[in-house]
Amino acid sequence: MIDFLLKYNTNAPRYTSYPPANLFHAAESKEQVERVWRESNSLKPRNVSFYFHVPYCKKRCLFCGCTAELLPGNQDELVRYFNALFAEMDEKLPWIDASRPVTQVHFGGGTPSAVPYAYLEKILNKLRERFTFAPHAEIAIECNPSLIDEGRLRELARMGFNRISYGIQDFDPQVLKNVGRDPSLLPVKDLITLSRELNFTGINLDLIYGLPSQTEAAFYKSVELACEAHPDRIALFSYAHVPWIKKAQKTLERFPMPTPHEKLGYFLEARDMFKKAGFVDVGMDHFCDPKDSLAVALSEGLLHRNFQGYCTRATTGEVYAFGSSAISQLDNAYSQNVHESKKYVELQEAHQMTEIRCEVLSEEERVIRDAIERLMCNRKLKVSDAEKKVLSAGWERLCALEKENLLVKKSDSEVEATELGTLVIRYLAMQLDPLMQNVQREGVFSKTI
Ligand SMILES: C[S@@+](CC[C@H](N)C(=O)[O-])C[C@H]1O[C@@H](n2cnc3c(N)ncnc32)[C@H](O)[C@@H]1O
Ligand code: SF4
Repeated sequence: MIDFLLKYNTNAPRYTSYPPANLFHAAESKEQVERVWRESNSLKPRNVSFYFHVPYCKKRCLFCGCTAELLPGNQDELVRYFNALFAEMDEKLPWIDASRPVTQVHFGGGTPSAVPYAYLEKILNKLRERFTFAPHAEIAIECNPSLIDEGRLRELARMGFNRISYGIQDFDPQVLKNVGRDPSLLPVKDLITLSRELNFTGINLDLIYGLPSQTEAAFYKSVELACEAHPDRIALFSYAHVPWIKKAQKTLERFPMPTPHEKLGYFLEARDMFKKAGFVDVGMDHFCDPKDSLAVALSEGLLHRNFQGYCTRATTGEVYAFGSSAISQLDNAYSQNVHESKKYVELQEAHQMTEIRCEVLSEEERVIRDAIERLMCNRKLKVSDAEKKVLSAGWERLCALEKENLLVKKSDSEVEATELGTLVIRYLAMQLDPLMQNVQREGVFSKTI
């Protein structure tokens, strides 16, 4: 099975957006961004999600592939970043129809829990002044557990946070030391119990397989400990080694790294272990408790996918994003702020456009985006005649995978991924993508496995 799957270990987008973010066009002007944001008010879904990017971390992990930087020693820099973010909110929030309900707020990074919480609270207060939050709105934060003790967790709960994600990566202290990361301050099981007592739900743990120096035995032990801790969700990421982009990863090359064959073996074994422990395989790298909202959405065909990974259609609205590198995900367009926090602050202070990219979608691109999303979330795809016409050669390419046992054709307009196909779902999705045909994907997109 491993050898069979490795045939499809090709470079492909993760399809958290369509078109993929690195292919977005340059933003033209502030007016263009304002126009697409304002237009999005009359599109679907009506509910609103917000994303805030906090790029800072107390310490840089050597393996990190995220848009993150060290917390500035100089407090002025931090004050300037948040003042720029507040100014961005003051400028752009009026573009969003305030009668639309807010169902989701997500703080990502970097490590949003690494900065003084007063900044996060001010962001939430600014939103509450202007918008009405739906009764069960999700307010989520990504945390590094080495910075979380009981007092800090209580403080987050008091501020209104009700969803939390912890980057565990690996439970083995030696592996963490090798990759330059501090372990969780509290035992992970206690951290989860405490989070539940404070009414957090959708509690997630991130794990990584294939980290430099991680042995097979150490990895399976981590999986076992994650199952014992029993969070609501587990994201099991494949270590992405991209030293040509993330220079610090080069220093990890002195440690042994598993081959793609071994890595796939790790993933398949971990997947079995999670399933035996009662978790549902939601898709790609996400596992969750059957009672979790993601598993319920999967069973009801209401799973959704965006830059935050898998999410539910019920709570995920059009996403309006603020801060350096943040990407807004609207029905009609994507827009992205400049990556470097310094540049972001300078542009905002000078009242200039902070966006580097603004991708306005054509009708055809919206059809392709929708088809890719449905396939990745439901593992099957039924298309109308009109959609088939737009997908054209892409639909033919997808159907041709029946010969390779990756999917079954249910009818002329419906396909369903096989068990093997679900394991390489990005490869299936890529068939629908006209941008990925006959182009250089190596060095641009990560491997599917
Ligand atoms: C923004 S961080 C999560 C919050 C916090 N900064 C932390 O590390 O705990 C997002 C996640 O990306 C994953 N990640 C980072 N670098 C990665 C890489 N090179 N390959 C695969 N996953 C990676 C880690 O699992 C990490 O928890
Ligand atoms: S893994 Fe998390 S804590 Fe570590 S550097 Fe990346 S964003 Fe920061």
